[in-house]
Amino acid sequence: MAGLSLGVLASGRGSNLQAIIDEIEAERLDATIRIVIVDNPDAYATERAKRYSIGHMYIDPKGFISRDEFFKKIAEELKLRGVDLVILAGFMRIVRKPLIDAFPNRIMNIHPALLPSFPGLHGQKQAGDYGARITGCTVHFVDEGMDTGPVIIQAAVPVMPEDTEDTLSERILKLEHRIYPEAIRLYAEGRLKVEGRKVKVEGNRPQDGYIVNPPLRGA
Ligand code: GRF
Repeated sequence: MAGLSLGVLASGRGSNLQAIIDEIEAERLDATIRIVIVDNPDAYATERAKRYSIGHMYIDPKGFISRDEFFKKIAEELKLRGVDLVILAGFMRIVRKPLIDAFPNRIMNIHPALLPSFPGLHGQKQAGDYGARITGCTVHFVDEGMDTGPVIIQAAVPVMPEDTEDTLSERILKLEHRIYPEAIRLYAEGRLKVEGRKVKVEGNRPQDGYIVNPPLRGA
């Protein structure tokens, strides 16, 4: 399978990377991961890449005189491999201009909250601490802000009174693993059109872009 060429940036566990790999392996997503780039030598995402013989690379941010230079290097490596779409999968850095300019509206991120609520770190804990009744996750295109780019898909889950950060994170993560491959699929099918802040999903399925899970008590 060839299809869309992906480059994945990760810093840690890589469960979203795995969800994308699984969809590709199951031939439900017509894409190939050309490279997994990590900014952390211990990122488990690297192990996942190795398991599937996917090219991988550690780039040490400390080896660059500026953050812009670091992102310039990442852009170069992605371009070298003919990457069409860049996937941030638990990549713990704000992307800088050299990468954004190299891939305009071609970088996606997943955030564990319903943006614009609870951007930044620990979106799940922020929602729980705030007392939100509903939270979720968002796939969006990346701009220079922190979790501010145009929204592609959101999925909602309830926040239960007995939830801890861990139980809520787990509930959200299950949906992350559904909506991230789905957003990439819509992109691969050429159905996403960015119009200013809004992403239009072309086609005739009115449910595209929304997943709302009913309460999960006892599920
Ligand atoms: C996910 O919760 C994602 O929403 C956030 O970082 C976490 C990454 O998890 N951006 P993983 O590395 O994909 O398992």
